[in-house]
Amino acid sequence: MKGLVLSGGSGTRMRPFTHTSPKQLVPVANKPVLFYVLESMAEAGITDVGVVVGDTADEIRQAVGDGSSFGLDITYIQQDKPLGLGHAVLISRDFLGDSDFLMYLGDNFVVDGIDPLVREFHRERPDAQILLTRVSDPSSFGVAELDEGGRVVNLVEKPEFPKSDLALVGVYLFTPSVHDAVRAIRPSARGELEITDALQWLIDQGLAVNSSLVTGYWKDTGNVADMLDVNRRVLEGVERCDEGDVDDSSEIVGRVSIAPGARVRNSRIVGPAVIGADARITDTYIGPFTSVAEGCRISGSEIEFSIVLADASIEGVHRIQASLIGRRAQVTAAREAPKSHRLVLGDHSSVQIRI
Ligand code: G1P
Repeated sequence: MKGLVLSGGSGTRMRPFTHTSPKQLVPVANKPVLFYVLESMAEAGITDVGVVVGDTADEIRQAVGDGSSFGLDITYIQQDKPLGLGHAVLISRDFLGDSDFLMYLGDNFVVDGIDPLVREFHRERPDAQILLTRVSDPSSFGVAELDEGGRVVNLVEKPEFPKSDLALVGVYLFTPSVHDAVRAIRPSARGELEITDALQWLIDQGLAVNSSLVTGYWKDTGNVADMLDVNRRVLEGVERCDEGDVDDSSEIVGRVSIAPGARVRNSRIVGPAVIGADARITDTYIGPFTSVAEGCRISGSEIEFSIVLADASIEGVHRIQASLIGRRAQVTAAREAPKSHRLVLGDHSSVQIRI
């Protein structure tokens, strides 16, 4: 079985981060979302993996390399325009050959892994296998309708009036029959070859599309609120690690992972939290569910339930919550009168100021 990881897309809901970096590389507990996907592939015993890349190909290649650090052999497949998941399968035909394959969207997060799904597929070997989960906002996803026996009878991409609350999770198993499907379907109203339509085509041909329900945690990390929630969920499992340099006037409470080279002075960190390599934390409170990436400088501040990307600095600011702070961003206190906010915000930034 081969793997196909989709890592293109424009990530409009993650702007401004996606102006400078692919959404799949935004870190969760200091590790890019895409790396969790690649690790799941390796854990499922898949080694031959195609990664479909778009405009952000260079960044993805730089971060992932040839895949050897994940135990994978990676082939990059260039998608010139984001024309849909079905299109990604279409252009991957040569790589996939006549193998069965696991397709995984590079921005999806399944905490408990995908092993049971892969095992079920091998056992039953349907023509395709999908994962479903109950959501409160089905119209943002592909939605499945099941018959009384639990068989998939109907699949619609982002329906205005969903027939169920069962969303398609971005993890799919296919036999080569999907290649006929993606050749047969036409672009949707949003101009994409939808994988949902390809699956519906298989059903219409009388082929077997099995489904299983994810009962554990799943998120499509399409926006900042979802990123923070995934970060929270992953940090719940973090182990305490004391590789940094923490002075006697600092207090570390609970499961906090401090990477080598990090320095903590006169600060209080309440876990679960991760502090990246070479970060400097001084006179600061860091609260639960916070990820501070490598090289950050935080002093005289309070921050919790947030993600701070590499080399950002925060100085004299109380209290930051539910925030995603980009690479090399600087957040400082405006000390002089008048009491005003001074902002230099990138395109598509979003700021909520306490008044
Ligand atoms: C895609 C699929 C959709 C699925 C979702 C899961 O949506 O088209 O069926 O429910 O991924 O993340 P997109 O991210 O392209 O909007």
